[in-house]
Amino acid sequence: MEEVKVVLITGGSSGIGAATARILAQSGMKVYAGSRRGTLQEQTPGVVPVKLDVNDAAATEAVVKRILSEEGRLDAVVCNAGNGIYGPVEGTLDQEARSQFETNYFGALKTIQACLPVFREQGHGRIITVTSVMAVLQLPFQGFYSSVKAALLSLSESLSLELKGTGIQCCSVLPGDVATGFTNARKLNVAAQDPASPYRNKMDKNLQKIEADERGGMQPDVIGKAILKQLNKKKMRVRVIPRLDYAAVGALVRFLPEKSKLALLNFLYT
Ligand SMILES: NC(=O)c1ccc[n+]([C@@H]2O[C@H](COP(=O)([O-])OP(=O)(O)OC[C@H]3O[C@@H](n4cnc5c(N)ncnc54)[C@H](OP(=O)(O)O)[C@@H]3O)[C@@H](O)[C@H]2O)c1
Repeated sequence: MEEVKVVLITGGSSGIGAATARILAQSGMKVYAGSRRGTLQEQTPGVVPVKLDVNDAAATEAVVKRILSEEGRLDAVVCNAGNGIYGPVEGTLDQEARSQFETNYFGALKTIQACLPVFREQGHGRIITVTSVMAVLQLPFQGFYSSVKAALLSLSESLSLELKGTGIQCCSVLPGDVATGFTNARKLNVAAQDPASPYRNKMDKNLQKIEADERGGMQPDVIGKAILKQLNKKKMRVRVIPRLDYAAVGALVRFLPEKSKLALLNFLYT
């Protein structure tokens, strides 16, 4: 097994990405933490902040080149940059729905595509995508976020088959609620801001619940440790849901009939 020594993380300026960068660096890895801000919450030995907008393919390729010239290798990439939008399907603007796919899906895709030729030439490489339990649990008023995380999970699993025998592995990490800047950064669609929306009461109740769940959620270190565990394994798991309670819910919804799953979600979230 090729030891993981050099890692690129996107969305490394806060939350899960910042915690993961610190945890990997503390374990001895050299980490390049990319974000649009290009800064770190706290200076950490072994973490190099880089300015990187995942929607800019040329900038991503330039960062990968820089890593190769400075380190001579790139062993893993963690595609973590993301954000959420909120609102009813009815009335969501085309551009709002598309924007949800930009950073979360196409940004991750561009990052993966920038790293794949390097991994192929090296004969090894690890691709971790940070998706969400919402890839497998579809919540109301987050249809676009659920869709984009399911799409990225699907891409990761399909890619893992494509890459069999190349030495390149894929793993998707599906966090549950994590207390980060994600909650404040969530954008409400125009339709979600309409005081006269026919979904007003349902949305208000639902948004209050999901925000409270996130603010009282796990510390991002839990996700960072789960990512470190996979990077240290000879063979990464294809899909990981950190923390036992969320993993149990993930397993439950996998085996529940679809109708029962939706009834449960309806009870909890509407
Ligand atoms: N928090 C949760 O409950 C939760 C649950 C499941 C999954 N997740 C997923 O976890 C990932 C990290 O989210 P978080 O909770 O840590 O939220 P966060 O604290 O808001 O962090 C998001 C990170 O993404 C970066 N980012 C956003 N757009 C970017 C772009 N275009 N290019 C590069 N970096 C970009 C941000 O930095 P800049 O603003 O500096 O670019 C920031 O570092 C996301 O993919 C999110 O969907 C979060």
